[in-house]
Amino acid sequence: MKKVNLNEAAEMFDQLNDELEWYYNKETGEFDFYNLEDKSMNERTKKEFKAKCWVALPSRWDIHGYRIMEDFAETVNELRKQDRLFRALGGKGAFRCFKDALHDIDLIEDWYKFKHEALKEKAKVWCEENKLEYVDEPRHCDSSSLDSPPNSAKISPMKVVVTDYIEPDLDFETKKLAELGVSLQAHQLKFRPEEEVFQAVKDAEVIVVNMVKITESLVSRLDKCKLIIRHGVGYDNVDVEACTKHGIQFAYQPDTSIDDVAEHAITLIFACARHLFRARKTLETSSAAGKWDFSGLFPIYRLDGKTLGLLGCGRIGSKVFQKMKGFGFKFIACDPYISDRRKAALEAEGMRFVDKETLFRESDYISIHTLLSDETRHIVNDETLALMKPTAYLVNTARGPMVDVPALARALREKRIAGAGIDVFEVEPPPPELELFDIETAILSPHMGWASEEAGWAIRVAILDDIVAAAQGKPARCIVNSVKTFTR
Ligand SMILES: NC(=O)c1ccc[n+]([C@@H]2O[C@H](COP(=O)([O-])OP(=O)(O)OC[C@H]3O[C@@H](n4cnc5c(N)ncnc54)[C@H](O)[C@@H]3O)[C@@H](O)[C@H]2O)c1
Repeated sequence: MKKVNLNEAAEMFDQLNDELEWYYNKETGEFDFYNLEDKSMNERTKKEFKAKCWVALPSRWDIHGYRIMEDFAETVNELRKQDRLFRALGGKGAFRCFKDALHDIDLIEDWYKFKHEALKEKAKVWCEENKLEYVDEPRHCDSSSLDSPPNSAKISPMKVVVTDYIEPDLDFETKKLAELGVSLQAHQLKFRPEEEVFQAVKDAEVIVVNMVKITESLVSRLDKCKLIIRHGVGYDNVDVEACTKHGIQFAYQPDTSIDDVAEHAITLIFACARHLFRARKTLETSSAAGKWDFSGLFPIYRLDGKTLGLLGCGRIGSKVFQKMKGFGFKFIACDPYISDRRKAALEAEGMRFVDKETLFRESDYISIHTLLSDETRHIVNDETLALMKPTAYLVNTARGPMVDVPALARALREKRIAGAGIDVFEVEPPPPELELFDIETAILSPHMGWASEEAGWAIRVAILDDIVAAAQGKPARCIVNSVKTFTR
């Protein structure tokens, strides 16, 4: 087996950079990786792209591994010495093996998702030319041969406070951070008075928040805090402007539940279509009567040929589009803020962009995937519901306040629309008197779109990475406000 030395590896990385050019739009200066499309990532990616030195991790798909396993440790250590290593690409397998050893390096996970077939072909040719074995199998990797990164010097001791969390415990985070000399204190302060929250977080340099309200009056008193991380996607409980005003970086985790919310929206669409909630009742009444009684269950329409309207076509909306392509839908979307580039790409795949009124009028299923803003608050109201077909369904997995619930309840009771699938509520959990509880055409779930084992771990790891980055003086992965570097 030929050994890959550093020069060859560097050459290979340049080739990899050539590959990356496929995804780099020189006109807009933006990268076209969908998952990495947030602005902060673009900024960093652009800067590092110019620096021309990346390390590819061998991975399950081995598109960037090119069988450099045996020399990987050597290469990494050498590059580390030269201070030339700052970003690694890899799939899940590689990450599991190398995450600890490379924890001071930016890791891009799931790289293989991007046009991996084309890259694989290139990888095979390259390996052949270089008399290397191309491996397309999961491989056992051992990170023990990598030098421990000189992290102890880089990581500053730091206090992290979690205001509230949904995990059974935070032992995983506590242990990982303790190894780096970072202390973590976890509380459950949801619904607790602000003063109590303040007492818990006042000395924290990093605050991780789930549902606790982070208000201006709280933020203005946080002398030590440099980073607030929201556990999840929506951040309506955090006053971002106040964070910016007080020089606190605010980060969130927008990309750990995309598949899950999309799957949940699709589940609700299907559950609506097949009247799943009433179907169970039909079964029970038929069983009690000893004969089938389908009254109340029909009509049922097949999905093929129907129109699915996406209100908002960002990360989750377009994932629903991708996943639903095989069911024969016509797709329309309303998204006034989508970039021309993404719009054109989605149009090329069969999406038709329309205005809001057309979306409500033409859709057989409307699935909401916008962000909550003044513009989208109660975007589903008497007026827009009046545009919908009597056979149409509304699905909301985005945010509760987008739907005027009394208006929806009236439309459902008066059979002006056929049904609704609702995962999110204006007040959570909703009060027992929520009108929708009494309406059988409303299929309801407890704000669980985000949930899956995979998403749960992905978000924990992503938050941990942000904390480690902060301890190293680096910016978080997905920053919401304009505080890019730590000012305190
Ligand atoms: N149910 C859950 O558990 C759960 C979990 C995660 C996210 N969410 C919610 O899902 C929603 C979508 O998240 P995402 O990650 O896809 O966000 P995103 O930012 O990727 O996409 C939102 C899209 O909405 C568009 N938009 C903004 N204003 C609009 C308007 N007035 N009309 C139409 N489109 C508009 C934006 O241009 C963007 O393309 C958010 O509201 C988020 O809070 C819910």
